[in-house]
Amino acid sequence: MNEKKVFPDTFLWGSATSSYQVEGGIDNNDWAQGAREGKVPPCGTACDHYNRYEQDFDIAKSLGHNTHRFSIEWSRIEPEEGKFDEKEIEHYREVLRALQARGIYPLITLWHFWLPLWFSRSGGWERKDAPEVFSRYCTYVVEQLGDLCDNYATINEPMVFSGFGYIRGEWPPFYKKSFLKYLNVIVQLIRGHNLSYQSIKATFPRKKVGIVKHIVVFGANKNPFNIFLAWTFNLGWTHLFMRRVYKNTDWVGLNYYNRRVFGDTCVLGKTDMGWNIDPRGIYEALHMLWKYKKPIYIAEAGCADAHDRFRADYIRDTVESISEAIQDGVDVRGYCYWSLLDNYELAEGFEKRFGLVEVNFDTQERTIRPSALVYRDLILSHSHPKHEEGSIFFIKNRKDHIL
Ligand code: BGC
Repeated sequence: MNEKKVFPDTFLWGSATSSYQVEGGIDNNDWAQGAREGKVPPCGTACDHYNRYEQDFDIAKSLGHNTHRFSIEWSRIEPEEGKFDEKEIEHYREVLRALQARGIYPLITLWHFWLPLWFSRSGGWERKDAPEVFSRYCTYVVEQLGDLCDNYATINEPMVFSGFGYIRGEWPPFYKKSFLKYLNVIVQLIRGHNLSYQSIKATFPRKKVGIVKHIVVFGANKNPFNIFLAWTFNLGWTHLFMRRVYKNTDWVGLNYYNRRVFGDTCVLGKTDMGWNIDPRGIYEALHMLWKYKKPIYIAEAGCADAHDRFRADYIRDTVESISEAIQDGVDVRGYCYWSLLDNYELAEGFEKRFGLVEVNFDTQERTIRPSALVYRDLILSHSHPKHEEGSIFFIKNRKDHIL
């Protein structure tokens, strides 16, 4: 079979980042406050991507990327409740123009874990009116950036956010085992997404609005009890949430890192995070999400591998698994490797390195890892020839994702 035909001409290939993890200089959100209180590592200048995005996008382009997923920092846009900062909007407009100039199609995440201080101090997602407040912010951003970007995800990994913040107590707001709060926050996030979707679509019906869901694939050996366990976990982690949002989504973003097979004794290698090296599980994750019959963008899939020992194979296996899912009929529109750059890995600080590009955090020097070139070659071998034509590709591509 001719490999090149599996991926549609319009398939998006690239990588992802998020505001706080790469930009630097953010001190008005709950994570920065958490760092001041010694509860999470400080982030400081991170990758200084706020100032170096052009250089970073040059690298992405040289690596054959035609898409880039990044997030808008809510605390920059709305530093005080109800007050929006036009200068910061202009910054993100410049970022989008820089992508456009390089023929890189943007996917924006409106909110990726970090909350403006005024919002978290007034109760965060437990605030009664949190969904309305969030929806006002989302709609404002789309109104300001809409001429430069077509695709928006409202929320990144709602279940992960609630789990780490309200059960494990490792992320802001640092509640441990607060199950009632946890459930309440999940309901609030569902409302926040649905309301934002409706509000954005009411004003900008042609914009595409999705949500990014972290999928853990729970599987089982043949033991009926394990099969039941896997079914329950998939229901609790993925389906109960998805059932409440899919009618208000144009597309779904898939973040895949883990598969857990109950009763399986097979021992896999580990990433630097201590997670199983198991990229092929993405095939099942794609099938799980495809139940909702919405186009899927893989918004994140990647591994921490400081010495670049297994990343190339990880990417190869990921791409092969995506191609198998596409051949089964799953509507996969793109793949963003996590992450373009080594960055601030949440409660782990800067040690864990997910980047296609290594960052020296003392000098801010960037070094392209060999696995990034393997990914580039895969992209080229699977792409339509027009891919290389920069802005021509952008326009052609844009039409296919907007209509
Ligand atoms: C998050 C990223 C994070 C990555 C690796 C995802 O859950 O969206 O922010 O860096 O996983 O842990």
